[in-house]
Amino acid sequence: MSQDASLAHIMLSKTPHHSPPWQGSASRGMNKRIQAAFGTLIVILFFLALTFDPLNLGRKHPSSPAAFSTSSPDSKSPYAYVTLLAPNPKLDNKTVLDDEDEYFVGTRVLAYQLLHAPKTGTNTSIPFVVLATPDIPKSKLERLRKDGATVKVIEKISESWMKPGLERWRDMMSKLRMLELTQFEKVLFMDADMYIVERMDGIFTDPTTEPLAPMPGLAVEDEGPLPSSYIFSAQQYMEGRTHPYPPPLGTYFSGGFFLCQPSIEMFNYYLTIAKIEDRFNSNAMEQGLLNYAHRRDGPMPWTDIYYKWTTTWPSMKEYKAGAHSLHEKWWDEKIPLDPDLRKLWYIARGEMEGYHRGLEQAFELLR
Ligand SMILES: *[C@@H]1O[C@H](CO)[C@@H](O)[C@H](O)[C@H]1NC(C)=O
Ligand SMILES: *[C@@H]1O[C@H](CO)[C@@H](O)[C@H](O)[C@H]1NC(C)=O
Repeated sequence: MSQDASLAHIMLSKTPHHSPPWQGSASRGMNKRIQAAFGTLIVILFFLALTFDPLNLGRKHPSSPAAFSTSSPDSKSPYAYVTLLAPNPKLDNKTVLDDEDEYFVGTRVLAYQLLHAPKTGTNTSIPFVVLATPDIPKSKLERLRKDGATVKVIEKISESWMKPGLERWRDMMSKLRMLELTQFEKVLFMDADMYIVERMDGIFTDPTTEPLAPMPGLAVEDEGPLPSSYIFSAQQYMEGRTHPYPPPLGTYFSGGFFLCQPSIEMFNYYLTIAKIEDRFNSNAMEQGLLNYAHRRDGPMPWTDIYYKWTTTWPSMKEYKAGAHSLHEKWWDEKIPLDPDLRKLWYIARGEMEGYHRGLEQAFELLR
């Protein structure tokens, strides 16, 4: 209960002990001063009743726990971390608690790791943008905003000819909407099942993430115009728990981690390719499209990002070798993962929950 409310409570419980002027016992001797005082009290009580808000419904964002976040949605950073949140088909006809929706929890852990965690949180105010499809419930969007994320609801992108290899990938084309975030010079996309080991801010000034000029001579006619410059930095996709690290130079990158330059020209270029049936293998959805658009011998080849920024199929080997981020479905018990590695994500999840519980308690005291 707020101070105002308890004051109102005390005043209300006291009034019966006075003799109200409208009761018969009010002597003729009650003078005008007491009447005036009662009038004032009634006016005060009336205004207290108007502002009494025990459920805190009227409280706006600036005084909510989100105000404690180190990066605000109004950040003027030229860079942004980005992820996509779409409904998990596994939960389509089920009602589960938000805490049991793994990709939603993964997104929250990522928000905590990128924004708030002392060791890995941004120290240059880089925002974390969550692109959410329109079917994500409001309660989840609100929770992510309280977590400090910049939430943007986007329209889905899909083409009927595409055949996602896994149901889980059905909405992944919508990732391409990150190209529309043209208020930023560079954006780093990460899937929600990424664990952050080291602060990632330095990736935006890494020499392997600099803009390049496309090669119009290699353009394909029906794919529309090329942008005037582009960035596309990614890592060779490696399958298998045991793989070389640094990864060998290859011809197929992972779509779960890449850095690019937002650009409407590039966005339109991708959409044009997406509409051409069988131009690329749609099994891996956006990963297939991006690997086609940025093929080694095409007009805009991809750049191998400095290997320490990430790894797919992680093991303790990559962790010890200094990989800054690890991509894995930490919550999937069927995946044979080093227990020490799996433990790290669960600790980060616990830290995230404790961080917000602590903030809410501190906020209660400050009210
Ligand atoms: C969920 O229910 C809808 C409508 O009843 C159905 O079309 C869909 O196949 C179901 N999805 C799953 C994953 O069972
Ligand atoms: C941010 O952290 C990095 C290490 O991750 C450090 O090198 C850098 O000096 C820090 N920058 C600021 C502004 O504190």
